[in-house]
Amino acid sequence: MPVMLHGKSGNKKIDIMNWRNKKVFLTGHTGFKGSWMSVWLSFLGANVKGYALRPQRLSLYNQICHRLDKHQSVIANILDKKRLEKELLQFQPDFIFHFAAQPLVRKSYDIPVETFEVNTIGTANLLDAVRLLKKECVVIIVTTDKVYENSETGKPFNENDKLGGHDPYSASKAAAEIVVDSFRLSFFHPSKYKLHKKSIASARAGNVIGGGDYAADRIVPDIYRALSNSKTISIRNPQSIRPWQHVLDPLSGYLSLAEAMKIDPQKFATSYNFGPKLKDELTVEELVQNVIECWGSGKYKLTPIKNAPHEAGLLKLNIEKAKSDLAWEPKWNATQAIEKTITWYKNSLQKNHDKFNICVKDIVDYSS
Ligand SMILES: NC(=O)c1ccc[n+]([C@@H]2O[C@H](COP(=O)([O-])OP(=O)(O)OC[C@H]3O[C@@H](n4cnc5c(N)ncnc54)[C@H](O)[C@@H]3O)[C@@H](O)[C@H]2O)c1
Repeated sequence: MPVMLHGKSGNKKIDIMNWRNKKVFLTGHTGFKGSWMSVWLSFLGANVKGYALRPQRLSLYNQICHRLDKHQSVIANILDKKRLEKELLQFQPDFIFHFAAQPLVRKSYDIPVETFEVNTIGTANLLDAVRLLKKECVVIIVTTDKVYENSETGKPFNENDKLGGHDPYSASKAAAEIVVDSFRLSFFHPSKYKLHKKSIASARAGNVIGGGDYAADRIVPDIYRALSNSKTISIRNPQSIRPWQHVLDPLSGYLSLAEAMKIDPQKFATSYNFGPKLKDELTVEELVQNVIECWGSGKYKLTPIKNAPHEAGLLKLNIEKAKSDLAWEPKWNATQAIEKTITWYKNSLQKNHDKFNICVKDIVDYSS
């Protein structure tokens, strides 16, 4: 390690020379997307400093971290502003990806204030720390497709649509977007780039799937737990449509955006949607049927919960801006994403199968 990565991600080629030995500060590195990003960045030869809470005992991070090259892990809270500043300033990053968050909608109903603190104030803490950096830096704040005011008309959201949020998670991320905009206008204005040398963007992606997600209360990990224990899968919102995509699709979008920002830090300091192709959307029930087919067996039942807290039923993203500005496109359709994900979980159940290698294989397949 690191291994050379050649090839394409979506339509956009990720250039290893943009990443080799570059310093990348990655918050949320112990989470699902953060673990995959850590593998990819290690693969590209980047020097990564992660900043997040301790991983769950059963987590992709614990399964792959011993194989990561040039990777430091800081276990600390994004709300510990002094520590965050210290770690960021000591590292002097070239790139920052901000993934750390409380990312679960239903949990946000249980802990709304903590969700706002971590997702909104956490983002402000990070951007405030960036103000202290005296060097060039590209910063990507990861939010979600749920930042748009969603009246469920079926119209795909574009980046100029109104922000909003019904549940506390969505609202906390929409508020994070407003924080990003405020910091960009107040301290990192593109027109004054030569003075501050920071390029700040936000990235809005939808539900992702992929091997190694073990989070409670997420559809694919729930299905995996049921299938691997020969239990019946329960579906609470069978007709909900989500923009399902493999985790490598938005990650390639974030990498492509960061590369573009490095080349033109003023033009690309804005927000981008990263979603699947529109015709590629599946209902939750169709997703479950596809998973069962890939797994080879399994049953499901519909278990709508009475008086369940509100969750958006219909959510579509318009990705024309990422296509035209970044030459980025999703690469794996929903069927391929499901097949890759289920193959990952099946392989991981084999004795002595190294999870890092399974992730690398997916990255190589994705990039070729
Ligand atoms: N997984 C998805 O389907 C999805 C969809 C859209 C957007 N996102 C966004 O992508 C990002 C990553 O999501 P994920 O699925 O990997 O989530 P995850 O729960 O697997 O990981 C969250 C990460 O944030 C860290 N974190 C949480 N609270 C923290 C705190 N107080 N201080 C420091 N670190 C903290 C955790 O330790 C972990 O590393 C999040 O911002 C999420 O909102 C995820």
